[in-house]
Amino acid sequence: MMEVYLDNNATTMIDPLVFEEMKPFLTNIYGNPNSLHRFGSGTHPKMVEALDYLYEGINAHDNDDIIITANATEANNMVIKGIWIDKILNGNKNHIITTEVEHPAITATLKFLESQGVSVTYLPVNDEGVLEAHTLRKYIKDETALVTIMWANNETGKIFPIEEIGLICKEFDVPFHTDATQAIGKIPVDVQKCNVDYLSISAHKFHGPKGIGALYVKKGYSLTPLLHGGEQMGGHRAGTVDVASMVGMGLAMKLATSPEAIEYEQTFVKGLRDQLENAILEISETIVIGGADNRTPNTSLISIRGVEGESMLWDLNQKGIGASTGSACASEDLEANPVMNAFGSDSELAHTGVRLSLSRFNTQEEIDYAIDVIKTAIARLRNISSSFAYAPESHNSQL
Ligand SMILES: Cc1ncc(COP(=O)(O)O)c(C=O)c1O
Repeated sequence: MMEVYLDNNATTMIDPLVFEEMKPFLTNIYGNPNSLHRFGSGTHPKMVEALDYLYEGINAHDNDDIIITANATEANNMVIKGIWIDKILNGNKNHIITTEVEHPAITATLKFLESQGVSVTYLPVNDEGVLEAHTLRKYIKDETALVTIMWANNETGKIFPIEEIGLICKEFDVPFHTDATQAIGKIPVDVQKCNVDYLSISAHKFHGPKGIGALYVKKGYSLTPLLHGGEQMGGHRAGTVDVASMVGMGLAMKLATSPEAIEYEQTFVKGLRDQLENAILEISETIVIGGADNRTPNTSLISIRGVEGESMLWDLNQKGIGASTGSACASEDLEANPVMNAFGSDSELAHTGVRLSLSRFNTQEEIDYAIDVIKTAIARLRNISSSFAYAPESHNSQL
């Protein structure tokens, strides 16, 4: 049976070149980078190179900081809790702005801050699933300590107007953080062009290793650290760095963000995604959520009326296909998909979401196979569905 991995927004396979790059640091070059002897200092050249690749990948300025973290969740926590300590507990601000459709790594952290008395505004998205930047203006006030808005949504792939948001934050002099976990390697990410002050990165979303991420911090925007201890990362994040993973993340960033790589995403990967999507849209009462343009090229969140997302995943899994009903981190929880709820899908639709997310490692053959399997699964599940009655006049649409 063919195996087809269509859950690349949950995590990606490690690029074999990245794995090769990491190997020496898991075997021979094992010194602690902070040690003064050759075993430690032997790690430095590749660590410096990895940092250079991270800076280049997001167009950071030499004077800015990039702090290595365990993942994007830690980077998000570091910004939100750092701002809480510096500007709310020790300052005179008490307000943070975000959107209704952020990843739990943002929303759960903000819920915690709310329990501590911080006021949080959750901006709604429009019926395309994106924030209209001008709505932000109405909610920024003197007490606003931070605006945190994702670059691209993990479930729909919708791309947010980061450049416009960055300009508004600059105009009001409010620090701007963006969770770029789902943007890097799929679309161009440029912190200088977009006036970003903090940006979260996760290596395992762009064919790097798991357990490593980074936080970009613009010069002059440093935060009280979350982890105190040794002087690693200039005292911004204590703990011995996982050298192998850092080196892997660096090369993965270089490979994923070169102009050729982004072009490949926009042409080859998007081409496969569109074939898959169009084949499903030929079937009645299927919808691509947030389907108009302005999506990351690899992502498709599809709602198939009468087909529970979980049942669909089961059928696909039986045939060797891995997909998701939403964010993998939340997929044990059978609540309706919050992103679909946020832009007003009715409750049946909200339970029928299946997210298909591709990568540069998918092939034409895999997509042809997936199309056949998905069509068969839809027919089978609709046949046994109590809620679905075939209505020939109904048609497809893009929400
Ligand atoms: C938008 C977004 N932010 C944050 C995360 C968490 O990333 P990590 O696994 O690196 O903590 C994810 C993972 O799905 C994500 O999609």
